[in-house]
Amino acid sequence: AFEVEAAASGVSVWVEEGMSIAQALKDAGVKVDVSCEEGVCGTCICDVLEGTPDHRDHFLNDEEKADNDQMAVCCSRAKSERLVIDL
Ligand code: FES
Repeated sequence: AFEVEAAASGVSVWVEEGMSIAQALKDAGVKVDVSCEEGVCGTCICDVLEGTPDHRDHFLNDEEKADNDQMAVCCSRAKSERLVIDL
């Protein structure tokens, strides 16, 4: 599990195995726009303010993934123990 802070919402959640960041945040009352939920459409892309995402999507290209400053919260996870995202 890892921690995700939605900075603009002032909400922090734990994301357990088998649960997406988007789902964990929605359960905590944060509005998260998702569509495909499979990492394809880009609807859920958020800016990453702190931490290192573990990119699992097929939307961002390799260069964008390497920059680690945005991520698909429907399916990507974290390499760091904590992520801060702009939601
Ligand atoms: Fe489509 Fe996340 S909802 S990429």
